[in-house]
Amino acid sequence: MKKTGTSDGVSIMSEKERKRAARSVKKTDNNLVWLWHNMEGFRGIYFLAILGTLLYNALQLVVPYFSAQLVDRFLAGSDAAYNLTNHRDQFFLLLELMVGLTIFRVIIVYLDCVAYERVSQGVLYRVRNFLFDKIQRQDMKFYNTFRTGDLMTRVTGDLDAVRHMIAWVVRMVVEACALLLATGTYFFLMNWKLALCLLAVAPVLFVLIYRFKVQVKPMHQLLREKLAGMNTIAQENISGNRVVKAFAREDYEIERFDVGNRDYRDTNIKTAYTWLAYYPYIESLANLLPVIQLLAGGLFLIAGDLTMGEYVAFSGLTWAIANPMRQLGNIMNEFQRFSAASRKVMEIYYAEPDIVDPENPLEHTGRFDGLIEFRDVSFSYEDSNLPVLKHITFTAKPGETVAIMGETGCGKTSLIHLIPRFYEPTEGEVLIDGHNVNEYTLKDLRGGIGLATQDVLLYSDSIDGNIAYGDSHISREEVVKFARYSAADEFIAKMPEGYDTIVGERGVGLSGGQKQRISLARALAVKPSILILDDTTSAVDLETEKEIQHSLRELSFPCTKLIIAQRISTTKTADQILIMQHGEITERGTHEELIKKGGYYAELVKLQTGM
Ligand code: GTP
Ligand code: MG
Repeated sequence: MKKTGTSDGVSIMSEKERKRAARSVKKTDNNLVWLWHNMEGFRGIYFLAILGTLLYNALQLVVPYFSAQLVDRFLAGSDAAYNLTNHRDQFFLLLELMVGLTIFRVIIVYLDCVAYERVSQGVLYRVRNFLFDKIQRQDMKFYNTFRTGDLMTRVTGDLDAVRHMIAWVVRMVVEACALLLATGTYFFLMNWKLALCLLAVAPVLFVLIYRFKVQVKPMHQLLREKLAGMNTIAQENISGNRVVKAFAREDYEIERFDVGNRDYRDTNIKTAYTWLAYYPYIESLANLLPVIQLLAGGLFLIAGDLTMGEYVAFSGLTWAIANPMRQLGNIMNEFQRFSAASRKVMEIYYAEPDIVDPENPLEHTGRFDGLIEFRDVSFSYEDSNLPVLKHITFTAKPGETVAIMGETGCGKTSLIHLIPRFYEPTEGEVLIDGHNVNEYTLKDLRGGIGLATQDVLLYSDSIDGNIAYGDSHISREEVVKFARYSAADEFIAKMPEGYDTIVGERGVGLSGGQKQRISLARALAVKPSILILDDTTSAVDLETEKEIQHSLRELSFPCTKLIIAQRISTTKTADQILIMQHGEITERGTHEELIKKGGYYAELVKLQTGM
């Protein structure tokens, strides 16, 4: 076979997005740099939005400026009466300018809001898609590491904190800086002495805010953990509600959730109190500004260093210094929330699965012949050193049926999970058609395998949609054909809406055996070259099982079958039966050979047939 370039799976992301993402996957530890990477394509409009913020804040000063002009020239100055009679046109011009600029400012604010919303939603959409894509491509290890509730928090609450950073925090910072800078400059130009007096509060302010930041940072990290913990309790409880009901543990679960909820609430209150401890000082400082302005400004006015108009402008603008001061706590809080949340998002954003496509995968078109070989395969899970599989060697020839039996926990599921590369062997090789499974792309490899897993999961979709999950192009006739193979057609036909009946969450409930049969039909519907059934008929009655066994022998496409089962009735017609004990194959052969051997299998036959 030839080597080719790597092929990629179907994706929710466009190729352009994927390339952009690849660029921004240049790992950075700085969450602001990370955010900047993800703003590609939005930076221009964001820059305009920031300019807009600067502009409309600067425009806030225009009204007081014109008020000062009006007061000095037409109302309070020595030439006021003269100006008012002789330069009435200028008086109206000033008024018109004031009104016109105010309207202009409102328009800018409006457009600015639109721009911030577009950018933040655009980035949110992009990162959310990227994260989902990332999560989809992770291997089993990832799913064993992260709890579902925690992952859900990352793609919802945490991402929203990121959006909030773009849409609100940056804007507030720009607004505060713009106001402070513009007012400060204006004050200095008017009267630098009075401006300096007002600035006297700044050093105290900086010290306070710095101390607040140090104190509140760990609070937000804790808050984030508590939220994820609470979400995990809720998610596990909702998906496992049958167990809760079966054991009548509702009160216990409500109590458990209440503990999590209370914990989250208390941490929230504590975080809020952290700011409240600083609030009186900040508020006092903010309130000190008008006092300074009144005292110092008054003195300057008396001394003739300040005109009445300038005094009016100063007092009309102290808010432009005091308000940003009051906002500082909020901004810092939100910034820390972003910090804690973005770290969590970045953890997933940069997560790389261990099991990936090879650099030079084998070119594979069409079907596998279906030759499966295990060569001296040993395996243990990364999180424990206990060997789960020890020196497994066997071959399943194309078209053969190999049955795997063994007591619970002996490693059957672990063994079959090595074929689609859910995990990699610690030692030895798993081969399909003479090539190590790690030489194929995951898509080619898994595309050739039909797997019915031990725990059946159906989607909230129609039965038709569930069966056609692996190949959505197949016709209804084919869906029915595969349902017949798995002896499911009869019960499906009796359902209220037949194949269109919605199953899964909030849909019609199905029995364990019915679910297993749909899962088998789903595995068959991809017409796999290799069919793996993990205890798929355990909940099906003997009669139906016989029917399924018969259909599996008569499949319309060539297929090698690996069947994990506990019943002799399932395994006895297999070409080869492997008996596993403690991770090793201890017996192998056909039904007759193994009975003759008089080992574990022979015992099983005696037990199950009563012979
Ligand atoms: P049944 O399905 O009950 O018949 O068992 P099985 O033969 O399919 O056993 P399986 O391969 O699932 O498990 C074999 C051993 O691996 C058991 O001792 C499990 O405890 C262990 N095991 C299974 N999954 C994991 C896992 O994700 N992590 C770790 N550390 N151990 C696992
Ligand atoms: Mg199992």
